[in-house]
Amino acid sequence: EKGGYDWFMRKEIFEQPKAVADTLLGRLGEDGELVLDEVRISTDELRRIDKIIIIACGTASYAGLVAKYAIEHWTRIPCEVELASEFRYRDPIVSPSTLVVAISQSGETADTLMAIRHAQQQKAKVLAICNTNGSTIPREADAVIYTHAGPEIAVASTKGFLTQVVACYLLGLYLAQVHGTKFGDEIKAVLAELEALPGQIQHVLDSTTDQARELAQELVDAPSVLFLGRHVGYPIALEGALKLKELAYIHAEGFAAGELKHGPIALIQDRLPMFVVVPPRGRDMLHDKVVSNIQEVRARGARTIVLAELDDSEPRPYADTLIRLPSVSTLLQPMLAIVPLQVFACELATLKGHDVDQPRNLAKSVTVE
Ligand code: M6R
Repeated sequence: EKGGYDWFMRKEIFEQPKAVADTLLGRLGEDGELVLDEVRISTDELRRIDKIIIIACGTASYAGLVAKYAIEHWTRIPCEVELASEFRYRDPIVSPSTLVVAISQSGETADTLMAIRHAQQQKAKVLAICNTNGSTIPREADAVIYTHAGPEIAVASTKGFLTQVVACYLLGLYLAQVHGTKFGDEIKAVLAELEALPGQIQHVLDSTTDQARELAQELVDAPSVLFLGRHVGYPIALEGALKLKELAYIHAEGFAAGELKHGPIALIQDRLPMFVVVPPRGRDMLHDKVVSNIQEVRARGARTIVLAELDDSEPRPYADTLIRLPSVSTLLQPMLAIVPLQVFACELATLKGHDVDQPRNLAKSVTVE
């Protein structure tokens, strides 16, 4: 059933173009507008939403962190992201005008389930983003958007993550449509970008997989690997580090690049591997700031592995390895940047002789709190 692959994880990584395409399927209307029929919360109720809280665990929470940037940008509705295991224990402020979005691949994660029950007691509306039909979380939620990734067997989430981000983006655009914070043409433009994504993910798989394998060979004995990102690249740094921890059992940490000087830079010593996600060049300062962060860490001896746009030559002088990504807008880049990081973790764990699909101490769905 692994379709000729050595691991389910590898199969699932390579299924991502299709998983993303399937998640988008049927959601774009004839004129390119957004159709989200399954959101069973009325447009009147959605118009009253004045706060969004995303709750999730692990990788799903990083999908939520990526989505926060997009949702706030498009809807102007404040959006918090909270770990499900923390939410319930801090007396959270929720009301009937709060939309709680629970993200869960399995739909069975106990912490997430308990958090949505808590939110419902406070009369919040709960929308689930879930991959497993008929599982507990979507059954208890007021509404659900299914990610159509197909079964995810490997413990490490890959296509689950990508499709969660896509589903959150669809929700964000839908809310922007309902709240009138984005015009139809702007929404259609983002939808067209999302439609192009499966082809671009395929391109990343085709063009970076060998490079990720070679890197894994080179770094197989690294005791620690750091990941840096800014803006939506920050959750990608966290997710890249999580993949490496859970599969390769080595110390890995993701940082917001702007935090370097506030502590983490002290960790850098000779040849410490650091992955850095460089945002696309744009009108804001994001790109240049990250390029100077790479310069800083390189000057202190880090071995830099830089993920940057195809024709972006600026990071080249400071990159020991340059991984090229297709040019897309800032908000779409996470869905491309994560792919080589997934492959890298899978390769490194394989080289170390670990069971990639069933890492030690972990379960696919965590049904205890
Ligand atoms: O099924 P869920 O999406 O609710 O699972 C949440 C986390 O347990 C899960 O993403 C976990 O972090 C993965 N093993 C990460 O690869």
